Amino acid sequence: SEDAPYNNVANTDYSQVTAREQTKQALQQVRQELGKPYWPWIAGQAMITDQIQASVNPSQPTQVIGQVGQALIPQTERAIKAAATAMASWQNTSAQERVMHLRRAADLMEQRRHELAAWIVLEVGKVLPEADAEVSEAIDFCRYYADEMERLSAGYQRDLPGETNRYAYRGRGIVVVIAPWNFPLAIATGMTVAALVTGNCTILKPAAPATVVAAKLTEILVEAGFPAGVYQYLPGPGAEIGPYLTRHPQIHLIAFTGSQAVGSQIYEDAAVLRPGQTHLKRVIAEMGGKNAIIIDQSADLDQAITGVIRSAFGYSGQKCSACSRVIVLDRIYDTFLKRLVEAAKSLNIGAADQASTTVGPVITAEVQAKIRDYIALGKTEAKVVLERTAPEFGYFVGPVIFSEVPPQAQIAQQEIFGPVLSVIRVQTFEDAISVANNSPYALTGGLYSRTPSHIEFTKTNFEVGNLYINRSITGAIVDRQPFGGFKCSGVGSKAGGRDYLMQFMEPRVVTENI
Ligand code: SER
Repeated sequence: SEDAPYNNVANTDYSQVTAREQTKQALQQVRQELGKPYWPWIAGQAMITDQIQASVNPSQPTQVIGQVGQALIPQTERAIKAAATAMASWQNTSAQERVMHLRRAADLMEQRRHELAAWIVLEVGKVLPEADAEVSEAIDFCRYYADEMERLSAGYQRDLPGETNRYAYRGRGIVVVIAPWNFPLAIATGMTVAALVTGNCTILKPAAPATVVAAKLTEILVEAGFPAGVYQYLPGPGAEIGPYLTRHPQIHLIAFTGSQAVGSQIYEDAAVLRPGQTHLKRVIAEMGGKNAIIIDQSADLDQAITGVIRSAFGYSGQKCSACSRVIVLDRIYDTFLKRLVEAAKSLNIGAADQASTTVGPVITAEVQAKIRDYIALGKTEAKVVLERTAPEFGYFVGPVIFSEVPPQAQIAQQEIFGPVLSVIRVQTFEDAISVANNSPYALTGGLYSRTPSHIEFTKTNFEVGNLYINRSITGAIVDRQPFGGFKCSGVGSKAGGRDYLMQFMEPRVVTENI
């Protein structure tokens, strides 16, 4: 029925010996496959390119994960042509057929769960349980969007004496998916299969540090049976082929997840009607956050400390949902801060494939340098209460906590995307909400409180797309927590939610006078 909940796939239970054994084997197997070549996939074929770029392990950058062929403008043109050629027949396939491909892709991901998680661990430096949860999310996106497409494909009928009216959706055209590196499987899968199942031909441009995981996704989509030209894998230099794709007159829709700067540029580029273009483009942009958790004096501090630590330092703070500001009521501030710092001291910083690691590396040397610049800036704006040292053998940044951060400080306003947390002192609960809302972003937010009036006030007044009360603010689950923000965090779309697929389709009404 309409309101039946989707049944999410379960994560691996690592308390089971067999699961740990399978994981170990998968990691060993993947280690033996490191350094292989991967090529763009265009019109149902691998396309050998002149240029190659190594994707490396951020925990240990001397280790090459794969050698990835780089698509430039000529390959991009071919990808668009292939998609345009396949469009007529793909748009007219039945929803049932497209849904079948998604369910097959989900089954293949489930069969390869441990292997996919291992690729994620090694290519983007995410610890295993989080990589495993990401595989679950990718499986859920396939199955949930398959169910959703079945629901939407029914359309509706309004018949009167002498007249029938049929309301139905169809694909828009060619979709470009520009995917981020931080959820290299889940987010790339979600945007791509949403575009495919709604009847669009799709070009996936993965983020440079995550091209091998995207190549694994490509293997799965090809095996799932999407016809030639319907899906293209296009790794290549983003600064060159990104704008070419988004400005191209034959592209209908751009589904983007990434930084606010790039998202806004895409929005602008997509708005221009180019010569030969006979449609308006749509942009689905999911961008940054400067997410806050409020702690009031009634908060359960055990719960709050755990939740803040997980939200701020999980995956080294490299989630758009991550907590980067904690707003604490004066009466509890000193107690909270002391305990927060103690807890952060016990985090284990190390290579992502070590079972003891809780904080892995950041993604690249450039990102590491940018986070370090923010830490240096923070020292001029606030007080450092914790600065963990980090290993030198990879792109590590030790967690940093700043206290007495002014709400207008740059470290409290700009997205850092690293393990850097600003703690802000406020006098009243109203101040807490207004400081929380004093941001261009509106993605996730949290509150730890046992005061019903505070909880109710927050529900109405904390301006975020995903509000979490008395729990961590990352790790949204398909259908349970459709994910996405507004203001400068995005266009208000919700991945893993009911409105998501409609953005990829055009509704049509056929009226027949009989
Ligand atoms: N969906 C992820 C989360 O909720 C972020 O992209 O953490």
